[in-house]
Amino acid sequence: MTAADLVLAHSVTIPDFPKPGILFRDLTPVFSHADAFRAVIDEFAEHFAGQFDAVAGVEARGFLLSSALAYATNTPLIAVRKAGKLPGEVIREDYQLEYGTASLELRPGQLPEGSRVLILDDVLATGGSCHASGRLIERAGYVVAGFGLVLELADMTGRERLAGYPLHAIMSE
Ligand code: PRP
Ligand code: MG
Repeated sequence: MTAADLVLAHSVTIPDFPKPGILFRDLTPVFSHADAFRAVIDEFAEHFAGQFDAVAGVEARGFLLSSALAYATNTPLIAVRKAGKLPGEVIREDYQLEYGTASLELRPGQLPEGSRVLILDDVLATGGSCHASGRLIERAGYVVAGFGLVLELADMTGRERLAGYPLHAIMSE
C-alpha cells in the first residue's frame, strides 16, 4: 500500500467538528498505526531528498511529523510555535485560520543564514498556517525548501497561497 492508501485507510471524517458545518478529517489514527506513520515520513524523506538542510514543524500537529523526519534524515529541527510560547527574541506573523485567527512565532538565529528549510504540517486548508510559517522562515534569513503535508483540502485556497513553492501532499481530497 502507498502512503496515501494508508492515510486514507486510517483517517476518519467527523461531521460538525470543531463547529457545526465543518467536516473534520481526523488524522490521529495515522500516527497510532506504525506502518502508516512510517510510510508518511518515508515519503517526505524520499520526495524532498537532497532539497533541505533543516526541518520546521508547525505547532502543534506539525511537530509530530517534523520531529520524526528530522530524526530519520539526521537534520536540525526548528519549531514554529503559537504566539506567547517562546521566550526571548521572536518574530511573529498573524494569519487567518479556516475557523478563527491565530499567530505563529519563530526564534531567529537557530540555523546558518540561507539554510533550506522544509516546513511540515498535517493539513493544508486555507494555507494560512503554512504561509505564515514560510514568511517566518524567510524573515529569519532562511530559504523555504518546500511544504510537506499529509492532507491537502483541494477545495480550499491553500495551494494558491503557496504558489511558487515546492509543495507535496501525501493525499488530496
Ligand atoms: C490546523 C492544522 C493545520 C492548519 C490548517 O491547525 O493542523 O496546522 O489548521 O489550516 P490552514 O491551512 O487554514 O492554516 P490548528 O492551528 O487548528 O491546530 P493544531 O494546534 O492542533 O495543529
Ligand atoms: Mg496545526
